[in-house]
Amino acid sequence: MKKVLVTGGTGYIGSHTVVELQQKGFEVLIVDNLSNSNIEVLDNIAKITGTKPYFENFDLSSEALTADFFSRHHDLAGIVHFAAFKAVGESMQKPLSYYRNNIQSLINIMDNMKKYEIRNLVFSSSCTVYGQPDVLPVTESAPIKKAWSPYGNTKQMCEEIIEFTSNATAINAIALRYFNPIGAHASALIGELPLGVPNNLIPFITQTAIGKRECLSVFGDDYDTPDGTAVRDYLHVVDLAKAHVVAINRLAGEKNKKKMEIFNLGTGNGYSVLQVIEAFERINNVKLNYKIVARRPGDIEKVWADTSFANEELGWKAEIGLDEMMRTAWIWEKHLAGKA
Ligand code: UFG
Repeated sequence: MKKVLVTGGTGYIGSHTVVELQQKGFEVLIVDNLSNSNIEVLDNIAKITGTKPYFENFDLSSEALTADFFSRHHDLAGIVHFAAFKAVGESMQKPLSYYRNNIQSLINIMDNMKKYEIRNLVFSSSCTVYGQPDVLPVTESAPIKKAWSPYGNTKQMCEEIIEFTSNATAINAIALRYFNPIGAHASALIGELPLGVPNNLIPFITQTAIGKRECLSVFGDDYDTPDGTAVRDYLHVVDLAKAHVVAINRLAGEKNKKKMEIFNLGTGNGYSVLQVIEAFERINNVKLNYKIVARRPGDIEKVWADTSFANEELGWKAEIGLDEMMRTAWIWEKHLAGKA
């Protein structure tokens, strides 16, 4: 059985990817320091797949702990690296912890990949590297704009570290640039677990609908978009998780055409904040309390993916539509509140 290490495997996208990997026959090892996730995720993964993944709790930004792990586990078909801090606003307040955590952990992992000849790396990147693109839909060859946040900057820097290192070593890599992942597993056993007040739209919507938050603030209705609210390319987290399995198989099967390849992962459709709210209310038959407020500083106006490269070259296509994203997000919130 092929072994894959998933860093950040108890997190939101990580846990869904672990499930998809296990269901495709991979043996999965997880490393996570539980800084933004919960140990119970492991049991919930086991409820879905029948197998509890091997787990170690430590911080990959520690050189010594990472070296110790790899000295014991290096017979790996590949690594999917999710473990990172991901809150844009927080990164503005704590830039150095973002750089230290996100950059150092990648360096530690790649050092050990080199040492133990682990050849295949899938990296969790973001459409944030494009900033506000000049041309929509955005292709992988769109210019990388100056980052708006330390978080976004770490994604840009990590991509560059991977590119130069893969060219200089036996490592092959795929960076996946996610657009906006939302929704939850159909089992309602795993999903997003935001700590404190959510920054992202969908957890704020579901927490408002369930009564944990009073009112959703819609940030700006004066953008140059059809209804004035900002537009994003939302994709279902299970579709996104499946792309990682395809990427690992591509690398393990030596089907990659370059040492480092980059793919956009989105649906190719842009939806406005008001369209998302409309879909949520309609599909779940719930009324949402919301109000329009000022724009959120740092937000871009609109972005959606050109997915043709991922569709044609990677052989992956998002299949789940906005309604299903909203339905599973709501079931997950009700499950968390003990109402589902
Ligand atoms: N929004 C609201 N109210 C809220 C939260 C969000 O109106 O309470 C709006 C935002 O202004 C934005 C849209 O909903 O227009 C989506 O916002 P999110 O915070 O859910 O997502 P972002 O597009 O801002 O950020 C996401 C990821 C980041 C990543 C970025 C790349 O969370 O990690 O995409 O563009 F960097």
